[in-house]
Amino acid sequence: MGLKRGGLLLALALALYLCSPLEAQLTVGFYRTTCPRAELIVREEVNKAFQSDNGIAADFVRMHFHDCFVRGCDGSILLDSKPGNTAEKDSPINNPSLEGFDVIDNAKTRLEAACKGVVSCADIIAFAARDSVRLSKGLFYDVPSGRRDGRVSLSAETFANLPPPTFNLAQLTQMFASKGLTQQEMVTLSGAHSIGKADCSSFSRRLYNFNSTVQTDPSLNPLYAAELKQKCPPGASGTTVPMDPPTPLALDISYYKGLLENRGLFTSDQALMSSPATANQVRANRNNNNLFSTSFTAAMIKMGRIGVLAGSAGEIRLNCRVVN
Ligand code: HEM
Repeated sequence: MGLKRGGLLLALALALYLCSPLEAQLTVGFYRTTCPRAELIVREEVNKAFQSDNGIAADFVRMHFHDCFVRGCDGSILLDSKPGNTAEKDSPINNPSLEGFDVIDNAKTRLEAACKGVVSCADIIAFAARDSVRLSKGLFYDVPSGRRDGRVSLSAETFANLPPPTFNLAQLTQMFASKGLTQQEMVTLSGAHSIGKADCSSFSRRLYNFNSTVQTDPSLNPLYAAELKQKCPPGASGTTVPMDPPTPLALDISYYKGLLENRGLFTSDQALMSSPATANQVRANRNNNNLFSTSFTAAMIKMGRIGVLAGSAGEIRLNCRVVN
């Protein structure tokens, strides 16, 4: 009897899981029959761009994050501004720091020639982010796909949906929770800051005008603060520094090592050390590259499911910069 009921509950749970809008809509190899070379074409374009600028990998990982957190992973980050509407990509959060739109365009042009109107721009970003993780010495993972493209992109929406580098732990946790991601996943995804660079203006407050009592954030390693001050004089903008100086091109646990030495670049990075639970996770990741890599790829896949449009929602844009 107990067993029967257990079986029934399991079947019900499975049915609910399969019918859940977020889970049911995306599948690995979605384009296998409709556009078999889709993932290969994106990979070739990302590889080509990476050959001439290896910093591009960080851009695609960040682009996927910024796409998914604003209106879901719907390619809204790729739409151009038009008269009367400033798009997400032109928000000061993304412009001028976020690059790689031309690479997406190149992939899209080839995809349209190979299979017209089939592969979404939102999926191109998800594939490019995955390929970038691999190029950053991270793990390869399969990307569930089948996302469709949105028709709206509003710069104003970036401010409420993307975390600023000044956020504390509670604010970060709350924002990730509002996207369906746990605090653990937030700590894991922050590991993306083990690649890429940041503009001095993103953290100069920590160096020169932290608060009314101290100029320099006391939670910043003094040696690191001195190095940063050399690279970023007061008011510097347009100058960048690597976010994880020991291994700026590798998506690895060096970021977590840095946090344990108070070398997190942003307040939001160092904030991961401000509670016992998150500090424990930082330590666990620092000690175990496999643990970090597997949880990172799982969290990227989960992030890639945020608010996706599927079925007949949205459209497959023919040009990622404009709605059809
Ligand atoms: C936890 C909250 C987060 C905050 C507050 C944050 C904030 C920032 C800021 C301010 C920058 C530097 C922009 C600049 O000055 O040019 C940056 C860079 C970056 N972020 Fe985040 N981020 C967060 C989470 C994430 C997540 C979840 C990912 C991806 C999974 C990510 C990926 C990146 C990457 C790869 C870069 C480097 C970009 C480049 O080199 O062009 N970030 N982030």
